[in-house]
Amino acid sequence: MNKRILPLNSDDLEQVKEIIIKEWGSDYVIVHGDIIHPAELPGFKIVDGDELVGLITCMIRGQECEVVTLNSFREGEGIGETLLKTVEDYALSQKCKTCMLVTTNDNLNALGFYQKRGFYISAVKPGAVDESRKVKFSIPLVAGNGIPIRDEITLIKQIA
Ligand SMILES: CC(C)(COP(=O)(O)OP(=O)(O)OC[C@H]1O[C@@H](n2cnc3c(N)ncnc32)[C@H](O)[C@@H]1OP(=O)(O)O)[C@@H](O)C(=O)NCCC(=O)NCCS
Repeated sequence: MNKRILPLNSDDLEQVKEIIIKEWGSDYVIVHGDIIHPAELPGFKIVDGDELVGLITCMIRGQECEVVTLNSFREGEGIGETLLKTVEDYALSQKCKTCMLVTTNDNLNALGFYQKRGFYISAVKPGAVDESRKVKFSIPLVAGNGIPIRDEITLIKQIA
């Protein structure tokens, strides 16, 4: 493939912010009750020529790396897996022992995607998204697949 994986740098900030707003409804996300601005985080993009076809952002806390956002704009071509692996390698280089992320109960595709790649469900917070919605009104009540969006599901993977 002619695609290239590149680390995000300060020149990417505006484009990343635009993507985050488009994909996640605002320039911030609320995860485990924290307001996080993904465009300000470390991350990686995959570009095909001038086109950005995938984006991942992450956050290192001690020996844990949290995947904050992951978006593939050409699904089923290995972009999601490549980005996830890139962040796992980055996390290892930062001396992390685990990677974790939070997704929501409706996101069956992501739940399958991560579990097939070594992640285990480690916690379920019923009603956590309902709480986030009180702060971020743009979080939809129901996902595109018809499932009400209510709960946070944490997945974790031992990487070292
Ligand atoms: C979840 C998500 C990131 C996956 O990205 P993706 O680019 O489709 O991921 P991949 O292409 O690496 O893998 C998807 C499937 O395509 C398959 N695939 C990969 N390359 C392929 C190829 N060349 N030909 C055919 N299939 C292929 C993979 O095997 C995988 O199937 P599997 O999960 O059953 O093993 C993407 O669906 C997405 O952006 N979703 C919306 C945002 C989201 O929910 N993000 C996650 C929550 S933070």
